[in-house]
Amino acid sequence: MINYIDAIAAPNKNNGHIKLHGPEGFAGMRKAGHLTARCLDELVPLIEPGLTTQAIDRFVFEFGMDHGAVPATLNYRGYTNSCCTSLNHVVCHGIPSDKPLREGDIVNIDVTYVLDGWHGDSSRMYPVGEIKRAAHRLMEVTHKSLLLALDVVKPGARTGAIGEAIQRYAEAERCSVVRDFCGHGLGKLFHDVPNILHYGRAHEGVELREGMIFTIEPMINLGKPHVKVLADGWTAVTRDRSLTAQYEHSIGVTANGCEIFTLSPAGLFTPGLGTSER
Ligand code: MF3
Ligand code: CO
Ligand code: CO
Repeated sequence: MINYIDAIAAPNKNNGHIKLHGPEGFAGMRKAGHLTARCLDELVPLIEPGLTTQAIDRFVFEFGMDHGAVPATLNYRGYTNSCCTSLNHVVCHGIPSDKPLREGDIVNIDVTYVLDGWHGDSSRMYPVGEIKRAAHRLMEVTHKSLLLALDVVKPGARTGAIGEAIQRYAEAERCSVVRDFCGHGLGKLFHDVPNILHYGRAHEGVELREGMIFTIEPMINLGKPHVKVLADGWTAVTRDRSLTAQYEHSIGVTANGCEIFTLSPAGLFTPGLGTSER
């Protein structure tokens, strides 16, 4: 049984009820999402061979501090970094390290800032120097799958419509959808109900209502969908070591569609693929 509750009246925890946010929540998310997007924009010119993912992590921490925000991942369930940096066959939750980026790598940088209590969660793919055609195509397919998913979001549709839009397109492009991680409700919490699956059928899942706030963050593989988590307890990789990509936005459901809180103000949401704010 799914219940929806007015976010103003809801306790600040995951009690299984889906929070419906009003103008105050949307305003808070707009600010947090915008800061996250600005950070991801500023990283674009910095990503080049030789840069370490630790240096990226430091930048994310400093940028947050300079703007009154704390990275939500810092000390989250034992995670001790300010962002996730997932390279090549790393699906998500890659831990920043002192290993330098190399020409031809593709890296996902996933940042969540908490600003005035609200969480802005977004990630993008960054090419390192010249990349292979297959990597370029995978990034294109993954980004387009996110756009197609955003297009189906409106009150009355179900979360399954999001999954179907992503899966239908990605599989038609001979790619596969990761099942083991999903999008999530967020707001004053980092991870809340509902789960947003990136596969499925339009009649499945819960009904979307105006005021819901959640992420869509498809992880798409060139090979099989299966992943495993390494011994560090975080790093998720493709079992077949195939290349993987991910893009993530935080959004709110509006009366006739959705508002994207993490739009790129500089149009740099898709570095390496051209100009796009979403
Ligand atoms: N930002 C990730 C997400 O999209 C979560 C990272 S949790 C961490 O939900 F602990 F791995 F950082
Ligand atoms: Co997320
Ligand atoms: Co994220």
